[in-house]
Amino acid sequence: MSQQTFLTGITTTGTPHLGNYVGAIKPAIAASHAGGVDSYYFLADYHALIKCHDPAVVQRSTLEIAATWLALGLDTDHAVFYRQSDVPEITELTWLLTCHTAKGLMNRAHAYKAAVQENVDAGEDPDFAITMGLFSYPVLMAADILMFNATHVPVGRDQVQHLEMARDIAQRFNHHFGDLFALPEAVVDDDVAVLPGHDGRKMSKSYNNIIPLWLPEKKLRKSIMKIVTNSLEPGEPKETAGSALFAIYASFASAEQRQGMREAFAQGIAWGEAKQRTFELINAELASARERYEALMAEPARIEQALRDGAERARAYASPFMARIRQAVGIRPLAGS
Ligand code: TRP
Repeated sequence: MSQQTFLTGITTTGTPHLGNYVGAIKPAIAASHAGGVDSYYFLADYHALIKCHDPAVVQRSTLEIAATWLALGLDTDHAVFYRQSDVPEITELTWLLTCHTAKGLMNRAHAYKAAVQENVDAGEDPDFAITMGLFSYPVLMAADILMFNATHVPVGRDQVQHLEMARDIAQRFNHHFGDLFALPEAVVDDDVAVLPGHDGRKMSKSYNNIIPLWLPEKKLRKSIMKIVTNSLEPGEPKETAGSALFAIYASFASAEQRQGMREAFAQGIAWGEAKQRTFELINAELASARERYEALMAEPARIEQALRDGAERARAYASPFMARIRQAVGIRPLAGS
C-alpha cells in the first residue's frame, strides 16, 4: 500500500453545471492522472437518497454523473471508480461506526443545525421533515472514507466539518479496538474558482442561474448570451472586476487569453462579441467530451460495466478489511477461535 490514499465522493444529485466542472470535476480528474498515490473516486448514491426520493431521478442522476466523469477522462486504470451501493461493506461499516458515534457529535453538524434552524424560523416543529438519513449522514460519510483507509480527502470547504467528524469517529473506534483506521485529512483547495452564474451570484442550482455542462452547442451559446452584463455600449471601456462574463471566460482561459480579454474589455469590446468569444472558448473545451458523453449515455451498459469493474477492485480492499473489523468488534463465528 502506498502511503497516501486519496478518496473523494460525488453525490449523485442534479445535472452537472459549469460551476461543478470548473470548481470540482476538472481538478479532480486532473488529480486522477497523478501517479504515486492510491486513489478512489465514487458515486455517493446512498447520499443522494437523503435529498432525493424519486427513484427515476436517483437512477438518472447516477447515470449522468457517471457518464460525465468518464467522458471527461477520469483515469479509471489508475483510480478506482465505483458506485457506493455496489460496495455493501460500506453500509455494514456504517452501522458499526454508528454504535460508537456520540449523538452529541451529530447534533453539532452544520447541515443538520441549519435544517433545524430553518424549521424554527418558519415556526415549524424543529424536527419537521428531518430524517435519520440527514441526521446521521456524517457517519455514512465517515464509513466511505475509513473503509479505504483514506489519508487525503479533497472536498469543498462546506465538508471540512464532516472530515473532523470522521477523524473523531475513527479515533474512538481505534481507541476501543486497536489501530484499525488511518486518520483522514481534508484537502481543501482555496484556489479553485467559484464560478458565477447568469446573474453574477455563485452558480448554483438553488439560485436557478446555472449553465448545464452538457447543453448542445446551440443551447450552450444561448445560455451564455443570457449572462447579465450592463448597458455600456460597444466602444465604451468595461471593467473586468465584478463582471460575471469575464470571470466565466477567465476560468476557461489560458493566462494569455485572459490577458487578451482584459485588453478587449479596456478597449470597449461589445458585450455580444465578448459573449461569443466566451461561448467559443467553452465550447472548444467541451466539444469532444460532449461527444463521448452522448455516446456513453446512449450505451448505459458500458457505464454499468465500468462501475462494476470498479466495485470489484474496491471490494478487493474493503472485503478483507471488513472481515478484520467484524472480528475486532466480536461479530465472529461461534465455533473455533
Ligand atoms: N458529502 C460530500 C458532498 O456533498 C460527498 C461525499 C460523500 C464525500 N461521501 C464522501 C466526499 C466521502 C468525500 C469523501 O460533497
